[in-house]
Amino acid sequence: MSAWAIRAELLAVRADPAIAGTEAIVHHADGMLLIEDGIVAAFGDHATLAERHLDVPVEDRRGLLLVPGFVDCHVHYPQTERIAAHGAQLLDWLERHIFPAEQAFADRPHADAVAAFFLDEMLRNGTTSALVFATVHAQSVDALFDAALARDMRIISGKTLMDRQAPEALCDTPESGRAESEALIARWRGRGRLGYAVTPRFALTSTPAQLASAGDLLAAHPDALLHTHLSENLGEIAAVGEAFPEAADYLDVYARHGLVGPRSVFAHGIHLDDGAMGRLATAGAAIAFCPTSNLFLGSGLFDLARADAHGVCVGMGTDVGAGTSFSILHTLGEAYKVCQMRGSSLDPFRALWLATGAGAAALSIADRVGGLAVGQEADFILLDSAATPLLARRTAARPLAERLFALQILGDDRAVAETWLAGRPAHRRG
Ligand code: GUN
Ligand code: ZN
Repeated sequence: MSAWAIRAELLAVRADPAIAGTEAIVHHADGMLLIEDGIVAAFGDHATLAERHLDVPVEDRRGLLLVPGFVDCHVHYPQTERIAAHGAQLLDWLERHIFPAEQAFADRPHADAVAAFFLDEMLRNGTTSALVFATVHAQSVDALFDAALARDMRIISGKTLMDRQAPEALCDTPESGRAESEALIARWRGRGRLGYAVTPRFALTSTPAQLASAGDLLAAHPDALLHTHLSENLGEIAAVGEAFPEAADYLDVYARHGLVGPRSVFAHGIHLDDGAMGRLATAGAAIAFCPTSNLFLGSGLFDLARADAHGVCVGMGTDVGAGTSFSILHTLGEAYKVCQMRGSSLDPFRALWLATGAGAAALSIADRVGGLAVGQEADFILLDSAATPLLARRTAARPLAERLFALQILGDDRAVAETWLAGRPAHRRG
């Protein structure tokens, strides 16, 4: 058995502080994380643990803040090179910028190159687990999974299902979508730290027959997630109403096809009313809150307080390429501003919870990652609150809450000194 330890300031948020209070926050100013075979064996005070484990080699990272690796609950790897595309809201943006870019993923070498860049960019930003959109091409998933396997990252993805309202080259059929998804599940199940998500793009690009087929797939594979978009843009919502006149609302389109349950992750959910929020909570489904994307596309301001009032599980998503940053730190800063616009104040510890444990719960991987609890996989990052002159000046000798908030408002990849996956180094800042 290989055991080693790291000494640093330790912080994990193991439950929602809005519900559990400060009990949820575990902090050791001079802490030690003990790792055995990639798994957390102890998380506590250095003074206590060092005495008990005298023979274990210790990496000294005093001065840095060690937290669980970030969980990105919604991001599109094929859109990496179209980040920062000017001038359109959702439906026009898809047609002008995104559908042309996604067609290039019919080419496997292109998919391999983008997947490698994308995962390295995530690691530079401290993201260790993610739920990721690929394209309609099955081999776009193979490219991502191969690259994730090589890095031992916890990545969940699936072939996009879309059989209408997209260029011919990006359309499958209910039958081919089903068969290719089944083949991908069979090919990748149980390999590394990978998971499969049944992925209809959104209601507008699937016929009812394809949504029904997605529901069958989900029912047939209890370990798969459901990943799609929901209630993002007012024009989109109106079009969904026209395309599915029999449905009570946007969420009901998915519910009618067996797509709303405890393994479902819906990106955005900006314009949901109390009724829909209540149904999501009852189903145990999750929302990915994607503030940089929602601001960039002018989609609207997600109502976190409304989701909280109903007890909906919420995680954070960067949603690159509509999102404008791979950094979950930066994304939390934008989430804070969105909550301010909605009249509520996002606490920095709760923000860290949303980006770690809550995200892991949303992706049904909370037994493996998110809290650095004993028995979980040792995915963690080291944050440097002196990464820039301004951060250093703002955080010097300040209490933890202030340093954490400054990292969220002023920090980005520059503040991620190191990223570790299952106890092995995955990125060190240059
Ligand atoms: N809705 C359907 N497809 C997409 C997409 O690629 N990005 C975003 N933000 N919303 C979508
Ligand atoms: Zn998206």
